[in-house]
Amino acid sequence: MCESWCLCVIVTALITVPVSHCRTAEEWKSRVIYQLLTDRFGPSGPVPVSPCADLRSYCGGTFRGIVQRLDYIHDLGANAIWISPFVENTDGGFHGYWAKDMYSVNPHMGTKQELMDLVHACHQRDIWVMMDVVANHMGPPMGSRYNFTGYVPFNETWHYHDYCVISDWLNQTEVELCRLSTLPDLNQSVPYVRDALLAWIHDVTAEYGFDGYRVDTAVEVQKWFWPEFTASAGVFLMGEANNGDRTCYTGGYQGPLPSVLNFPLYWAMRRAFNEGQSMTQINKSLALQRKCFKDTSVLGLFVDNHDFPRFLNLSDDTALLRNALTYVMFGQGIPIIYYGTEQDFHGGNDPHNRESLWPCYNQTSSTYLFVKGMLAMRHRLAVYFPLNNQVELYADDHLMVFTRGALSQILVAITNVGQNANITRTLTNLPFKDKTTFINVDHANDTLVVQNASFTISLQHGYPKVYVLEFAVNTTQSDTSRRGNRSHDVITICALWAWAVANVVTFVGSLLVH
Ligand SMILES: *[C@@H]1O[C@H](CO)[C@@H](O)[C@H](O)[C@H]1NC(C)=O
Ligand SMILES: *[C@@H]1O[C@H](CO)[C@@H](O)[C@H](O)[C@H]1NC(C)=O
Ligand SMILES: *[C@@H]1O[C@H](CO)[C@@H](O)[C@H](O)[C@H]1NC(C)=O
Ligand SMILES: *[C@@H]1O[C@H](CO)[C@@H](O)[C@H](O)[C@H]1NC(C)=O
Ligand SMILES: *[C@@H]1O[C@H](CO)[C@@H](O)[C@H](O)[C@H]1NC(C)=O
Ligand SMILES: *[C@@H]1O[C@H](CO)[C@@H](O)[C@H](O)[C@H]1NC(C)=O
Ligand SMILES: *[C@@H]1O[C@H](CO)[C@@H](O)[C@H](O)[C@H]1NC(C)=O
Ligand SMILES: *[C@@H]1O[C@H](CO)[C@@H](O)[C@H](O)[C@H]1NC(C)=O
Ligand SMILES: *[C@@H]1O[C@H](CO)[C@@H](O)[C@H](O)[C@H]1NC(C)=O
Ligand SMILES: *[C@@H]1O[C@H](CO)[C@@H](O)[C@H](O)[C@H]1NC(C)=O
Ligand SMILES: *[C@@H]1O[C@H](CO)[C@@H](O)[C@H](O)[C@H]1NC(C)=O
Repeated sequence: MCESWCLCVIVTALITVPVSHCRTAEEWKSRVIYQLLTDRFGPSGPVPVSPCADLRSYCGGTFRGIVQRLDYIHDLGANAIWISPFVENTDGGFHGYWAKDMYSVNPHMGTKQELMDLVHACHQRDIWVMMDVVANHMGPPMGSRYNFTGYVPFNETWHYHDYCVISDWLNQTEVELCRLSTLPDLNQSVPYVRDALLAWIHDVTAEYGFDGYRVDTAVEVQKWFWPEFTASAGVFLMGEANNGDRTCYTGGYQGPLPSVLNFPLYWAMRRAFNEGQSMTQINKSLALQRKCFKDTSVLGLFVDNHDFPRFLNLSDDTALLRNALTYVMFGQGIPIIYYGTEQDFHGGNDPHNRESLWPCYNQTSSTYLFVKGMLAMRHRLAVYFPLNNQVELYADDHLMVFTRGALSQILVAITNVGQNANITRTLTNLPFKDKTTFINVDHANDTLVVQNASFTISLQHGYPKVYVLEFAVNTTQSDTSRRGNRSHDVITICALWAWAVANVVTFVGSLLVH
């Protein structure tokens, strides 16, 4: 007779506990991020008829161009954007990572007011803005290594570490003190530099109202700097902590920063989907991540970005892409979709992976529709995702099956067999009672019914599948078709109630903190 109340208490406890100690990171768990480069997403005004021809310099994308095309992002199902750095850059810095004047907005992309308008327009649609920021370096100097003429506010040689270039990436001292290629490396130990960077991020949050930051080159800065920077920023930060495929090394930057991009998963998926290795690569990586990260549920998940060849460049197979994207959208973490992936872009290394999105804002292309459908499902089942619970039920060379939700309400099957093959497996020793039924979210006639702790699952044409536990189906709909299934109603009411309590706790927590 404990069923409903016990369940409510348990679910509430699970949702509430993590909420109270880290409010902003918790809030970001409801987000799906669309990553874009401002210069490449869209120009002000009409859509140009042809794509940008020279990807090595400015293509013409602007803040206003993003505002004009927010429907494209919103309709896809993303509710946050990560945009490239906004500060004025040295010549050719279309990507934004070559700061020249930290206090000015890159005039190629618009004005300060237009950037504010962008944030405002996003917030009106409940789209959050994650700004990309760099505290490690400035843009490459002209003429001499030490020519910082016109750099603001770091125009003196003593603002930087002594000259050297990173060559041994396993020597952490070198990674922190030397230059990444030609980029002058700021010395955060100089009080002027440290204070200026901390004041800058504080003022940027106050001025523009960004909801979070993506922090570039996090491993190239000494760790002690990041907690100060995080405190000064006042919002959620997600760092780029990539230096080879080293899970615990990357994990060491969560703590100094609230979150980092999940590079270990990126490399594991690359092996499983692009390099013909086993799907257990993902399984193994997850086990290691749980040891090496403080909280795997707030890491950023991605299949590609502006620094790596696009997924379809490595493997020209949209079925494989769909499987990898399905993990990104349903696995534990915050999903990130790199612009153009939804249009099957397949550019190689930088700058080929930084195509202009124009002229193809096709909202009926098959991958756009696939992502849109999956994200709609994710939002509909949103109540199950903030919980830090993912269970890998099964993994072998070609198939991985995992569940989400305290009661395994969502079951996801992904495969690396590719578009020309089917795969069928019988899973045994499942932790479910007989007659437990999972329903395919796309085809209600495709079900998995547990018998003797076992069921057989088939994926056709290498495509992934997502199933929902029978009584969890339709839980978020307010129609009356649910009558007659009591356990189903209990779950729905309980989940919503727990969510409401969690929000109250968060709110009270924020009052105590401030
Ligand atoms: C220093 O850089 C500026 C542009 O940033 C350039 O105009 C100037 O010629 C450079 N000076 C030297 C000595 O190279
Ligand atoms: C750096 O900028 C400051 C403030 O504009 C200026 O006073 C100083 O002379 C500049 N230093 C150099 C080396 O140009
Ligand atoms: C960085 O600045 C600190 C404090 O001024 C100084 O002691 C140190 O030598 C500088 N490091 C380098 C590599 O320039
Ligand atoms: C690491 O790099 C630093 C700075 O370049 C250098 O002084 C040190 O000798 C290097 N350590 C090793 C073990 O190579
Ligand atoms: C990968 O990218 C390179 C450079 O953009 C391009 O030449 C090549 O055709 C691409 N390969 C695929 C499979 O798209
Ligand atoms: C969008 O993509 C769909 C499916 O590939 C295609 O049929 C349609 O012609 C495309 N529309 C445009 C405007 O390119
Ligand atoms: C991988 O998944 C299987 C379930 O198929 C599990 O038994 C095994 O412990 C997992 N391995 C690791 C390293 O997590
Ligand atoms: C995969 O399954 C589909 C539908 O069941 C079937 O039409 C197709 O021939 C199968 N493909 C292979 C390679 O067995
Ligand atoms: C299940 O339904 C889909 C349409 O939703 C249909 O295409 C498919 O053939 C059906 N499969 C079976 C096994 O009935
Ligand atoms: C149930 O499964 C177990 C092992 O998985 C097997 O030994 C047993 O015979 C099965 N029982 C039935 C009724 O199929
Ligand atoms: C979910 O609800 C819709 C609309 O009420 C209904 O058509 C559909 O069959 C339901 N799905 C399942 C799996 O019960």
